[in-house]
Amino acid sequence: MRAVDIIIKKRDRLPLSSEEIKFFVDGFTRGDIPDYQVSAWAMAVLLNGMTEQETTDLTLAMAHSGEVLDLTGAVELAVDKHSTGGVGDKVTLVVEPLVAACGLPVGKMSGRGLGFSGGTLDKIESIPGFRTDLSTEEFLAQLKRTGLVLTGQSADLAPADGKLYKLRDVTGTVPSIPLIASSVMSKKIAGGAQAIVLDVKVGLGAFMETVEEARRLAELMVAIGRLSGRRVIALLSDMNQPLGEAVGNALEVREAIEALHGGGPADLREHCLVVASHLLVIGRKARGLDEARRLAEAALADGRAFEKFRTLVATQGGDVSYVDRPEKLPRAAVVEPVVSTRAGWLKQVHARIIGETSVELGAGRARKEDAIDHSVGIIVHRKVGERVQPGDLLFSIHARSRPEALAAKEKLLGALAWSESPVEGLPLFYGVVE
Ligand code: URA
Repeated sequence: MRAVDIIIKKRDRLPLSSEEIKFFVDGFTRGDIPDYQVSAWAMAVLLNGMTEQETTDLTLAMAHSGEVLDLTGAVELAVDKHSTGGVGDKVTLVVEPLVAACGLPVGKMSGRGLGFSGGTLDKIESIPGFRTDLSTEEFLAQLKRTGLVLTGQSADLAPADGKLYKLRDVTGTVPSIPLIASSVMSKKIAGGAQAIVLDVKVGLGAFMETVEEARRLAELMVAIGRLSGRRVIALLSDMNQPLGEAVGNALEVREAIEALHGGGPADLREHCLVVASHLLVIGRKARGLDEARRLAEAALADGRAFEKFRTLVATQGGDVSYVDRPEKLPRAAVVEPVVSTRAGWLKQVHARIIGETSVELGAGRARKEDAIDHSVGIIVHRKVGERVQPGDLLFSIHARSRPEALAAKEKLLGALAWSESPVEGLPLFYGVVE
């Protein structure tokens, strides 16, 4: 078999066999098939798609490209959550400690930023010392001991996805339903999750822009879960506008800490409570969503969720003084306010433009070896449906320099669309796929 023939087949819209997919994934994992061939193949997949069978074969080949964890010795029921990626999505930072505080252990392997969407690992690394490179042994031992782990995909787990994810980030090959479904599900299968809540983002700042596409992605992932013996629930959630107010790594950690103290923006709090409730039900810590919500609200209100986050940071070598005093987190040299010059109702706060602007400020990567700047980003002060008056604050831009802040200001003003008459706010969720 030759890699080039597999690329040609996909270019010509022919389905790949299980053997061909396994050959390609294994060759890439070993380093025998170079990045440029895999990039060409990923573009062919993005343009021509894959059948459900090919997607399942790709998922299983990536899941088995390294070790497959068995968590049954560490926890009674291994649960996990995963977001398909959005702007201002700091939900994992809140929900993981929150459900752990309710007695549900979670060991999660998170990802880095992808295209315009942020990544939990990049965010949590704003806390000096926090280790995201735990070995499998460390992961299992910590999960057993503390019931809470947040780390990167170790080199041993689904290494094919780890390599492909980095390539897709910089080759315009992220928004493909089979590539996203196999990326998410291969990690979940390799990580040993038995029950999974997927947060499938929909809208201008998501890889799926319509509810129909998001539903197709959700159904595919639920089907892959079923085929591999996992229980999967997918929530379809809004990503037309950023979630919460903060976009950018340290800014998002600060906002997550506020939410863990029971505060923070109302949409973020509500979103986290819904995701946490589903996890508690799927993880058998509550009989129904109402009971689960009561448990989660109590853990936020009495400080247990925040304490769990603090323990997580300490256990993974992070400096907890940054959690106790978030004002110590990295701060940008320039903070530029953007004030409205007009009155009206906001009918669009375009999440992708805001995400791209944040990446251009330095919060994300243009090439896979780029370093990111944890301090920069944007605070989005307004939501769709709000009435704005001249002089109201729209954005606060956290930048390395004034020229960069001014360039960002132009783009951010272009992210807004206005109406002369009242506009409905956006829903947080569009449905559930089970
Ligand atoms: N999240 C992932 O893990 N992979 C993707 O491809 C997109 C979002």
